[in-house]
Parts: sequence; structure tokens; C-alpha cells
Amino acid sequence: MKVKINTSTEGTTRTMRKQGSLFGKTVRLSGLLLAAAALASCATGRIDPTDPVGENAKQIDGIMRLSGYMASAVGIFVAAAVIIVIVKFRARPDDDPNELPKQIHGNKKAELTWTLIPVVMLVFLAIVTIPAVFDLSGKSDGRTIKVEGQQWWWQFSYDVDEDGTDDIVTANEIVIPVGEEINLEIHSNDVIHSFWIPQLNGKKDAVPGRIHHWRISSPEPGIFYGECVEFCGLSHANMQMRAVVLNSNDYEAWVQQQLQPSTIPTSAAAKRGYELFGRHCVSCHVIDGVYESAADGNANLLSGVAPNLTHLMTRTSFAGSLFELYNDDGSANIAELREWVRDAPDRKPSRPDNRQGMISFVETLNNSELDDLVTYLLTLGGKPPLMPS
Ligand code: CUA
Repeated sequence: MKVKINTSTEGTTRTMRKQGSLFGKTVRLSGLLLAAAALASCATGRIDPTDPVGENAKQIDGIMRLSGYMASAVGIFVAAAVIIVIVKFRARPDDDPNELPKQIHGNKKAELTWTLIPVVMLVFLAIVTIPAVFDLSGKSDGRTIKVEGQQWWWQFSYDVDEDGTDDIVTANEIVIPVGEEINLEIHSNDVIHSFWIPQLNGKKDAVPGRIHHWRISSPEPGIFYGECVEFCGLSHANMQMRAVVLNSNDYEAWVQQQLQPSTIPTSAAAKRGYELFGRHCVSCHVIDGVYESAADGNANLLSGVAPNLTHLMTRTSFAGSLFELYNDDGSANIAELREWVRDAPDRKPSRPDNRQGMISFVETLNNSELDDLVTYLLTLGGKPPLMPS
């Protein structure tokens, strides 16, 4: 975007022009700052860091507010002192320009005051912050869910019977029971990402080869929005996620539903779609019970894994939580799903040629094949336990 502000006026003196250009610069800078603020608020959308819901998020929010108040007090004090000094000690017409004011270099009282006050403030903040840092990284008695960052979506795995193997593998939406401190084991399958659902807790990096412990909890059911907050390539901004918090009965029902493997569909169109899926999609996507051959690590992607689609329709969103899977009236968002299958790289910036993201099927599938494939996808899983409001 080009912003051109004409500040020159015919016949002005050099000084005037200088002032004009300074004014122009100020206007342009203010415009840029306003645009940046507007863009920043657009980018966050439903992600709200100012309204903590979970205990951990509240703890962080409290410390942030405390340090904010302290910084404001310091800022106000310094600004006031500067104004007082400027007014009180300004040069007056009858001052002797060669006479220096009283010099206080090496004044012990003054030096100690402006050293000790910041030290006390910083030590106080450290005493409040350091235990919180350790506390937030500690484990709770609650269940553990594995979080994997990938280019450009999130995978969540549940070991329901705690036998060391994952029983539920889902994408982009982490479903948890209300009121329970959930342990997260966060890591990455390709580059560094960062997990952030601000209403439930702060940010935690997802790093290849490492497992970071983190906890989330919510005292109330609902859907909470989050996103990747570490620049991780082309579609970093499109790597979103949701936490779906359910009351304990709904959560148990969700778990039982997710444990059910998929079956071969009976209707003719869905069955054709099922067969197309077997031809075009199974080298990356798994559907438990029918297409398990590509299981873990075989997909032609840097991360080695594409979203498990067994219970696709029990989610509220898809493609890194970028698109809604349902319309406002509760019907499936068939148009968006079809467009995604047809030409994913067009819907979400990616580099399938570099094994980053889903390939395009523009050249491969005709219209009726696309319809059949989508018809099959719509049979996967059932309805979401909670819809976005
Ligand atoms: Cu993943 Cu940014």
C-alpha cells in the first residue's frame, strides 16, 4: 500500500518545508501505527488473551496485570518528574549562561535511591514470577494428552486405557473434560511451533526431539480458540486450533464415540467416495478400521503424518481449524469441504511440492468424483458434541 501525503507548498521557506515534511512523517507514522493496530486485532479474531478462564491463564493474567501496574506507576512517575524538572529548572532571561547549576555528581543518597527502588521492584516481580513458571510446567494428577505441531495443523492423541499406545488420534480440536487439569506433552514433528490457547494457559513451544509439559483446564464447558505462535513457515498464520471443553458425561460419550472404528459405507455414492479415498488419500490419511495402511509416519509430508479422518465430522472445523465444518444452520459446510478437497493449496498457502501441506486434485478428480468423495467424508463420525456459538 502506498500512502502519499503532499506536504510541499509553493513559495515556502526551507524551514517551513522541513516542518512540513516532519508533519507528513508524523501523519504517515500515525497512519501506519493505526493500520498495525487494526490488523493486529483482525489477526486475533476469536482468540482472546484478555479474558482468562482456566486457573493457569488466570495466574499468568494476574502477574501480567501486576507488572503492568508497576510499569505504569514507574512510567507516570518518570514522566511527571521530567515535566517538573523542565518547568522548574528552565532557563530564565536573567540567568547567567556561564553559571552552572549546583553539581551533585556522586551523591550517595540519590545513587542509592535510584538503584535500590528498581532492584526491590524487580526482586518482588521475580519472587512472584519464578514459582509460577515452575508451577505451570509441573504435572497434575489428570489425564495426559499428546500434542503434536505439524506444518500446518495440530494433532492430539489420547491413550485412554493407559497401555502406552494411542487409542484416539484427532486433529485441530483438543477435547477435554470440564474442571480437570489436563497434562499436555507437547512436541513437533517438523519445525518449531508454539501452542497457545490464551484463555486456558500461556504459550508453550513445540520443539522437534523434545517433550514440553504444560497443563490446561477450564472450570466451564465451551469452545476456546488458539493458534500457533511461533513462525513456522508459509501457513503459520493458518495454524489454528480449538479446545472443546465438555461436561464429564459428554466427554465420556465423546471418548466412546471416538473409540469406534469406521466401517465401509452402504450408500452407492458414499461407497464410490470410499473407493476413491482408497486410491487418492490413503497414502497420507488414516481412517481407523478401514484404511490403516498409512498409519503413523508414512505420509508424504515433512511431518510424516496427515490428519486422522476417522471421526472428521465430530469436529467443528478443518484444515488447521481454518474453515468451519458446519454452517450456522447446523448443516455441513459442503461447499468449503469440496473446495478444500479439490484444491487445498489454493484455499490455504502451502508447498505440497516440498512435502508441506495437502496436494491439489484439480487435475486428478472430476466433478462427480469430488461429489462422491465429499459424500464419503460426510459419513465419517457423526456430529460435534458442541457447536461454536
Ligand atoms: Cu506452527 Cu506457526
